[in-house]
Amino acid sequence: MKFRVINTSGLLEKIPVLILFCHEKERPTLPARFQPILRRLTPKEFTGADKQLVILHTTPRLLLVGLGKPAELTPEKLRRATGLAVKRLCALGIANAAVQVTSEQVGPFVEAALLASYKFTRFKDPKDNHGALKSLTLCLPKDADLAAARAVVTRAQTIAEATNYARDIANLPGNIIYPETLADHARQLADEFGLLCTVLDKPALETGGFGGILAVGSGSAREPRLIALEYKGAPEAKPIAIVGKALTFDSGGISIKPSEKMDEMKFDKCGGVAVLGAMRAIAALRLPLHVIGIIAAAENMPGGRSYRPGDIVTSYKGPDKRAVTIEVLNTDAEGRVLLGDALVYARERAPQAIVDLATLTGACVVALGTHAAGILGNNDKLLDAIRAAGEATGERCWPLPLWQEYKDMIKSDVADIKNTGGRNGGAITAAAFLAKYVGDIPWAHVDIAGTAWTTEEKPYLAKGATGFGVRLLLDLLQSWK
Ligand code: BES
Ligand code: MN
Ligand code: ZN
Repeated sequence: MKFRVINTSGLLEKIPVLILFCHEKERPTLPARFQPILRRLTPKEFTGADKQLVILHTTPRLLLVGLGKPAELTPEKLRRATGLAVKRLCALGIANAAVQVTSEQVGPFVEAALLASYKFTRFKDPKDNHGALKSLTLCLPKDADLAAARAVVTRAQTIAEATNYARDIANLPGNIIYPETLADHARQLADEFGLLCTVLDKPALETGGFGGILAVGSGSAREPRLIALEYKGAPEAKPIAIVGKALTFDSGGISIKPSEKMDEMKFDKCGGVAVLGAMRAIAALRLPLHVIGIIAAAENMPGGRSYRPGDIVTSYKGPDKRAVTIEVLNTDAEGRVLLGDALVYARERAPQAIVDLATLTGACVVALGTHAAGILGNNDKLLDAIRAAGEATGERCWPLPLWQEYKDMIKSDVADIKNTGGRNGGAITAAAFLAKYVGDIPWAHVDIAGTAWTTEEKPYLAKGATGFGVRLLLDLLQSWK
């Protein structure tokens, strides 16, 4: 999609549709010839309430979009309104449109327009894909700084396109994306954006002693991988590590899941894929930071070589005196087992902070539903920064506690820790497990089990992978202190 940024005067003739955001009980400023039509609108037809959409068949056509009360407008409300408007245009087969926006609205508008026009169409008959929106012209007030607005467009576009890139990989099913092909995507990304890429295959994982990743991947014919991408925008600085869980499919393994909705476990790679998307945007925007993206990829399957309940697994040792040992009580609590290795691998690089993203627990979905990710960690400043990034981007995050009592719940009789602490506090005991691997490095864990994909259409997101985490991480890193 192409974006043009101009001042309002003299464009309206050439564009078929003009999107107009309207607050409740206010009428937008428009050339005089539109005023009679707007005045004739009755409150029953359009009040400007949140989520209202009305098309007027003037020339150009006007798409009126309600924003609700001005005092209650947030960037997220504007994103949602934009999403509804853009989806309507797509459904009507309109290729070019214009919009009146203020300078502050440019970023959320562009972001939402791109996110709302994403569809996963790779396996659909092209005949059924109606035409996409090709261009949007942003009309700013006469005194607006157009150069600044164009920079905002580029930034929003880069981040939204990275999010859609992540959604495109995350939406691919387990027969197409498995650890090896996920690593191919990482290598391709590295080539295109000038990142360093290291992939540890199964023999390398064996040599290195990555017992957790190997155990989780042992039941599958698709061998596991540990993927690392490095971006050096500030080579002297200590790196920031972003770590993602990428179960390309999670059947549960020997502790197999019920078959209902098991298909959704193709989305169990979304944490790792969000790391890919974030690395792409970080590199494209040339952020002045040193960032390492680490993706632990495996497929969790039952089979003759699977790890089993009762097994005792030894994690990757890395720089530690002694490796953590795990008593496996449930092979479906696999994310933490594999992430333990990845976190130790991250720590080896002496990072200033670690942020991990994982579709880790159903318990997190029970706690927060699908409207927020759970965040836990060992550093309040980092957790506050993530929460603020969540508010700014609409990728909301909400804290859960990580008190010692929860850590006690995963003590094992036969190993250092066990991989489940029972049903109670499941999202927290999973994070307590991860905490065992990070030592005192500032760390935050983002449980995206409820937010990584959606089974119902959202205002600016279609069903399927949401790309949750890409925009969150970018906002976090752009204001990194
Ligand atoms: N990938 C799942 C978590 C999950 C479940 C994410 C549903 C999204 C929706 C994870 O590997 C898992 O199976 N966790 C178990 C842990 C339990 C066995 C302790 C869970 O949450 O049920
Ligand atoms: Mn599982
Ligand atoms: Zn899982």
